Amino acid sequence: MTTDPIDLTLIGGTGIYALAELQDAEAHQPVTKYGPPSGPIRIGTLAGKRVAFLARHGEGHSLPPHRINYRANLAALHALGATRVLALNTVGGITERFGPRVLACPEQLIDYTWGRISTYCEEEGSEVLHVDFGDPYAPMLRRTILAAAKRADVALVDGGCYGATQGPRLESKAEIARLRRDGCDLVGMTGMPEAGLARELGLEYACLAIVANWAAGAGPDPDEVITLQDVLDNVAAASAGLPALLREILAG
Ligand code: HPA
Repeated sequence: MTTDPIDLTLIGGTGIYALAELQDAEAHQPVTKYGPPSGPIRIGTLAGKRVAFLARHGEGHSLPPHRINYRANLAALHALGATRVLALNTVGGITERFGPRVLACPEQLIDYTWGRISTYCEEEGSEVLHVDFGDPYAPMLRRTILAAAKRADVALVDGGCYGATQGPRLESKAEIARLRRDGCDLVGMTGMPEAGLARELGLEYACLAIVANWAAGAGPDPDEVITLQDVLDNVAAASAGLPALLREILAG
């Protein structure tokens, strides 16, 4: 297994199953002590730099959020040489700055998930880690992403709090009202335990949230029904600036 450093690693969420710009990509499928990752890890070249891509839900979106083997995904990426990880997370927007098709780089999160293995300190005899998680997303990588967005002229909201829910169903209006009271601006199903595991591995990890819809009851039409087609259309539209943003991140 090669461990040449990788300049940037991307984990794609709902609606992003490949990175078309990746050249000469090779597929790696390492099996970790936690099992296999969600699918092949494709490592290739983008803007002259070594870049890796993994589709979090599998390339055919076969894994729901609670069935993703987050430990295997991050352990496999780490073993292949990942250091900087940009997690693409499709989300619902709760507060007014975060409407459909917005791109955001959140700075905080709250974890509402349950029943997911959320640590590498699970096995008998493993070292007990209490990693600092005050700033769950790596401040330096966030700064790099925000500066790159400015240079690339890609609109990117700086900040916000990501609420990680269990799914796979969407939330009730009351659940979203509670998340809003808690201070959440965005809601998604895959932000945790991924961010915590990345911190345990010492990876520099940040989130690029792609707002696909207003969360339940949060938009101008409180009775709007969220459809998968809307989610996919909005992710595709919001992702238009992604290649330019990635090039600037890699250049920075
Ligand atoms: N809630 C949770 N996860 C999501 C949503 C949502 O409204 N939209 C896209 N992912």
